[in-house]
Amino acid sequence: MPISTCVFDAYGTLFDVTSAARQAAQEPQFPHLQDHWVQLATHWRLKQLQYTWLRAITDAHTDFWQVTEESLDWALEACGLSGDSTLRQRLMDLFWELQAYPEVPEVLSTLKERGFNVAILSNGSPDMLNGAVKSAGIGASLDDVLSVESVGVFKPAAAVYDLVGARFNCARDEVLFVSSNGWDAAAAAGYGFTTAWANRMGEPKDRLPWTPDYTLTNLHPIPDLAGAKDA
Ligand code: LAC
Repeated sequence: MPISTCVFDAYGTLFDVTSAARQAAQEPQFPHLQDHWVQLATHWRLKQLQYTWLRAITDAHTDFWQVTEESLDWALEACGLSGDSTLRQRLMDLFWELQAYPEVPEVLSTLKERGFNVAILSNGSPDMLNGAVKSAGIGASLDDVLSVESVGVFKPAAAVYDLVGARFNCARDEVLFVSSNGWDAAAAAGYGFTTAWANRMGEPKDRLPWTPDYTLTNLHPIPDLAGAKDA
């Protein structure tokens, strides 16, 4: 079936999750972060994802903002920075308004001009997603921002991917699902979406039972890819 609907993961795919620590490291009040920001950003992201998976399989859901705070606390302590409450607050503020990757506004507006449904499907809570969408200025290109909060479980639970068909009344293979998170792209492929893995970091392919249909290095090819798929 032709693609009718393009759905994007948010964190890591549209919004650069490393930008909070990178930006703080450039600010004069946090000189000690310059040597640690890469390690901090890496710990923060990995813990954040681990906590989502653990909460999903133990049926202990809480919203993604709390998970983001708790994973930051773990990462700050791991980097020997846990006493700095000003830094903690600054990092959380920056996470609210993460930078979008440079190609994002044009890719989304091209999809919209070409008549596709365009949406975000994310672990993020509605407020934090709206904050990031607003600061990136991409709201006009989106038909909807779908949050896991409406089903109360994190990805890759099938209930999350079900939100797309329920919202757009489309078959699974009419959806082009795009994620930079290899596990998310793989699980969405297993679910039955047509999937593109935007492998921004050049990571190895996840050893999971499912394989994304396309592997890209950024989002530039998405509009042509969506238009080309008609089988
Ligand atoms: C999200 C996480 C997986 O936006 O990045 O859902």
